[in-house]
Amino acid sequence: METVVSGIRSTGNLHLGNYFGALKNFIKMQHENNCFFFIADYHSLTTHPTPGNLHGSVKQVLAEYLACGLDPEVATLFLQSDVPEVAELYLLLNMNAYIGELERTTSFKDKIRNQPDNVNAGLLTYPVLMAADIIIHNASKVPVGKDQEQNLEMARKFARRFNNMYKVKYFTEPQPYNFGEALIKIPGLDGTGKMGKSEGNGIYLFDEPKIIQKKVMRAVTDSGPTKKNQKMPDPIQNLFTLMNIVSENETSEFFKEKYNNCEIRYGDLKKQLAEDIINFTTPIRENILEILSNDDYLRKVAKMGAEKARASASKTVKEVREIIGFKPF
Ligand code: TYM
Repeated sequence: METVVSGIRSTGNLHLGNYFGALKNFIKMQHENNCFFFIADYHSLTTHPTPGNLHGSVKQVLAEYLACGLDPEVATLFLQSDVPEVAELYLLLNMNAYIGELERTTSFKDKIRNQPDNVNAGLLTYPVLMAADIIIHNASKVPVGKDQEQNLEMARKFARRFNNMYKVKYFTEPQPYNFGEALIKIPGLDGTGKMGKSEGNGIYLFDEPKIIQKKVMRAVTDSGPTKKNQKMPDPIQNLFTLMNIVSENETSEFFKEKYNNCEIRYGDLKKQLAEDIINFTTPIRENILEILSNDDYLRKVAKMGAEKARASASKTVKEVREIIGFKPF
């Protein structure tokens, strides 16, 4: 049985990218592995949420995890901030993380572009906290989307560096995981890049059907193909990528054929895509609403998860302290 760790920041509701890039894989893995899934609420502080927003988002994301099918009796489901041991390991790993390598990460460069007025040290050391999250449970697999590949590479580097520095074989080097397939990137509706919380181009699991319809109908397209079988430009390819994940095979084949024959009407494609997304999200949305109204249940889940996660984390931190040389007199 392998140990699996993954997390999602609590900076906003979960979108289709989070679900298909990461959460769906967690859920598939929970029965065969020792799984730790958490809400990265320490990480979310890099964007300076108000206390009310912080608490509200954490509650929402916890309900969303559960609504998607994470079983808290099977997997360890917890809040990052309920495990202060992770903050201690983060401090210890920070001593061996170099400014130059942290400045060079793409996620840091992206983040400072997104929030130029708030380039805090937490953004710089974001990959160190992420490494601590993972190696504190000695995870070997980390189900994530393509955008986290470099952060995982950093986590392996920090694990390896610790082992070399103290001449131990203590930490496992965690691998990104997607069932033997390449990591995926779900595109946004604005014709470029990935679906993201800060990009404002996402469809959220909690969006009402009307909102989904509006967002999809507004998605960027072009004036249509002019030559048979021509290569699709990115915005059109993106719509098909979304269709591939939520629609029946025959549906996307049907529209692909229309595209290849220059007979496509983007309005029809979007209408179908919106309908299929709504069919996918509606039962999840109903589950979220039901779970959100049950504070007792959420409290019980968080408490149970915190206890299990702390047991695993405190064992690691105790051993790491000894390896480093912090010993009782
Ligand atoms: P976050 O909250 O940005 O995203 C959570 C997960 O969703 C995936 N994801 C995507 N996958 C495919 N296509 C997309 N458009 C897309 N958008 C998001 C991400 O790859 C991720 O797996 N740093 C992490 C949270 C974190 C973490 C960890 C993850 C903190 N500690 C330890 C794994 C292990 C983050 O900000 O993810």
